[in-house]
Amino acid sequence: MHSYRARQDVSILSDHLEVPGLGFLAVNAFVIHAAQPVVVDTGLGLPDRDFLASLAPVIDPPDVRWIWLTHPDRDHTGGLFALLDAAPQARVVTTFAGAGIMSAERPLPMDRIYLLNPGQSLDAGDRRLTGFRPPLFDNPATVGILDTSTGVCLSSDCFGAPLPTAALATAEDAAEVSPDELRAAQLLWATIDSPWVHGVDPAKFAASFGPLRDFGPTAVLSTHLPPVTGDSTTLFATLLDAPSACPFTGPDQAALEAMLHQPPPA
Ligand SMILES: [Fe+2]
Ligand SMILES: [Fe+2]
Repeated sequence: MHSYRARQDVSILSDHLEVPGLGFLAVNAFVIHAAQPVVVDTGLGLPDRDFLASLAPVIDPPDVRWIWLTHPDRDHTGGLFALLDAAPQARVVTTFAGAGIMSAERPLPMDRIYLLNPGQSLDAGDRRLTGFRPPLFDNPATVGILDTSTGVCLSSDCFGAPLPTAALATAEDAAEVSPDELRAAQLLWATIDSPWVHGVDPAKFAASFGPLRDFGPTAVLSTHLPPVTGDSTTLFATLLDAPSACPFTGPDQAALEAMLHQPPPA
């Protein structure tokens, strides 16, 4: 995992995961350097990852005041409890559903939770961070962030894309990916991560982009894509086509067995 400043006030902790047959998926966590510092998501839970060690060069863990969990999927919660231990002042920003999902594996301490629904805001000292429901999501607890002081949007899984190489997945700008390749990969991810998108009313789906479009982000930071800066028109246009994109069907048992029985590369 490496880290860098994407924008003046936001650091990215950049990791990735290889997805067999699909490519390399960015797995990003973030630090918003607000007066009350906010860590957004806490990385993969794999045994060889050490989120706290990756976080320490970016911010001293005891200084963290908020841990905003965009949703409690396992690629977002890896360092959560270690960070709660290391940051005694920090509280976890999540929803009622998010706390409930966590309680099925390891409950969050109730006095360390801060419940926030889409449309509500968190006062981080020098700025308001407003929660919003991204147009696409894979977990009912998903709440993205609109930083009203910088115009940065943190979109959770939405806008993600598996990319052809690890270097691209961990690039510092999504513009390193060709526009056509990025569009195809984002639509693929949309159909994998949010398969319900094929059943939506296209007009209602288009309307769900309203809060984000009205906000007019200066940058979109997805947990599963390098940063996108500047005009978001293309991003929105791509995902608006998701309902009619080709539905994703994963490999079946025959494909798995064929893969397992492949001769090793010479
Ligand atoms: Fe997810
Ligand atoms: Fe994710």
